Amino acid sequence: MAVLRMRLKLVVTVMMINLFIFILISRNSGRDKSGQLKLKIPSKPFWTKLAPSPAYWNRQQQILDLQNNPILTLNFNTTFSPDWFNDTVLSSANPCQPNVGVMTQVKDYNSLPERFKDFLLYMHCRSYPILVDQPDICKEQPFLLLAVKSLAPHFDRRQAIRQSWGRTGVLANQTVVTIFLLGDTTAGDHHPDLSEILDYESARHKDIIQWDYRDSFFNLTVKEVLFLEWIQTRCPGARFIFKGDDDVFVNTYHILDFLKGLSNPKAKDLFVGDVITNAGPHRDKKVKYFVPESLFVGPYPPYAGGGGYLYSGDLAARLHNVSQHVTLYPIDDVYTGMCLRKLGLAPEKHKGFRTFDIEEKYRSNACAYKSLMLVHSRTPQEMIQIWDWLSSPSLNCH
Ligand SMILES: *[C@@H]1O[C@H](CO)[C@@H](O)[C@H](O)[C@H]1NC(C)=O
Ligand SMILES: *[C@@H]1O[C@H](CO)[C@@H](O)[C@H](O)[C@H]1NC(C)=O
Ligand SMILES: *[C@@H]1O[C@H](CO)[C@@H](O)[C@H](O)[C@H]1NC(C)=O
Ligand SMILES: *[C@@H]1O[C@H](CO)[C@@H](O)[C@H](O)[C@H]1NC(C)=O
Ligand SMILES: *[C@@H]1O[C@H](CO)[C@@H](O)[C@H](O)[C@H]1NC(C)=O
Repeated sequence: MAVLRMRLKLVVTVMMINLFIFILISRNSGRDKSGQLKLKIPSKPFWTKLAPSPAYWNRQQQILDLQNNPILTLNFNTTFSPDWFNDTVLSSANPCQPNVGVMTQVKDYNSLPERFKDFLLYMHCRSYPILVDQPDICKEQPFLLLAVKSLAPHFDRRQAIRQSWGRTGVLANQTVVTIFLLGDTTAGDHHPDLSEILDYESARHKDIIQWDYRDSFFNLTVKEVLFLEWIQTRCPGARFIFKGDDDVFVNTYHILDFLKGLSNPKAKDLFVGDVITNAGPHRDKKVKYFVPESLFVGPYPPYAGGGGYLYSGDLAARLHNVSQHVTLYPIDDVYTGMCLRKLGLAPEKHKGFRTFDIEEKYRSNACAYKSLMLVHSRTPQEMIQIWDWLSSPSLNCH
């Protein structure tokens, strides 16, 4: 025992001496020959002035990031006062007036297709009046809320969904609520005025939510942010949310099955769909998804195709909050991917979401749909046919 203690003392002493020498050396190395302290002054400040991105969306996002950075906002105007900041402050003061500043701030504005001009002029506006609401639709909290992006003239698609996969009520012992999300198609664009027929449909089925903005492809992101806001006020208790198009078939049975099998932590952050990774903007003007370099540069985050995806009500609340810190982007599913990334999350790929359809030879095989979540695209008639197959007690798939 005594020998062990002496050894221990020796080791500790040697370590102390080493430490002392180390301190001595490191103190001395900070001095020059005359013993004066050498101060290392960096030649540049450790921050660099943020250079504005040449692309308009990226620049707006840089500004939002600066505005929402609590450390920087403290001494904002001394540290950062980029001159490119001013225009945005002005345009966000009155976000729902057309922002004519974009005409000079987007370098090729005049040569852009009309839909980009429309988008740019209103991209700061996220709030439009609600025209038709269903304030009590979630009185009984749904386990699954099916939210279908539709357009006013698509009466037949909505009716087929009501008669098939979007049937409201109790399914597989769970409450399901279906709503249709609409903008306004009568305002301009030479659409026939369908408002009276829509009024009838809405009174009859009480499942239409409509806002007063122009329902166009590039405004689907507006639909997304308005819907996220709507959930928080009208349906905050929904456990899970499916959001998709009105030309898809959804196997609601299989979705409920999948959701009931989820464990708790997994359910909280759930976001599944047909996930696209390593994508970026199309630069070919002829493609529907074309985005010019003057609007956006950089890769897209992973995102779930907008044909349909499934997520938790818990996540919907976080998406709602974070969306206020993400600049609107003209492609809605990419935008949702951007919001998820800002939350530090990524959507998860699920093989059952077939936004690019299944092989042709299986399309009229009832059993092919049994373990799928979604197939795109299907006509109203096909929706009803497939639903009948799946609902039939005599369906035998083994
Ligand atoms: C910015 O500067 C102005 C005038 O110099 C001052 O009144 C204002 O309080 C400053 N704002 C912030 C956020 O520091
Ligand atoms: C920002 O706008 C204000 C008022 O419009 C103007 O007085 C100021 O010079 C502008 N600042 C910069 C850096 O452009
Ligand atoms: C149906 O759901 C209720 C409440 O969610 C539960 O108590 C009941 O056991 C379920 N019944 C079946 C057959 O799963
Ligand atoms: C989006 O809706 C607003 C409000 O109706 C409209 O002014 C704008 O032109 C629309 N944007 C696009 C890209 O259609
Ligand atoms: C969203 O933001 C509000 C207000 O800042 C906050 O009270 C709420 O807790 C946030 N919700 C989530 C889910 O982060």
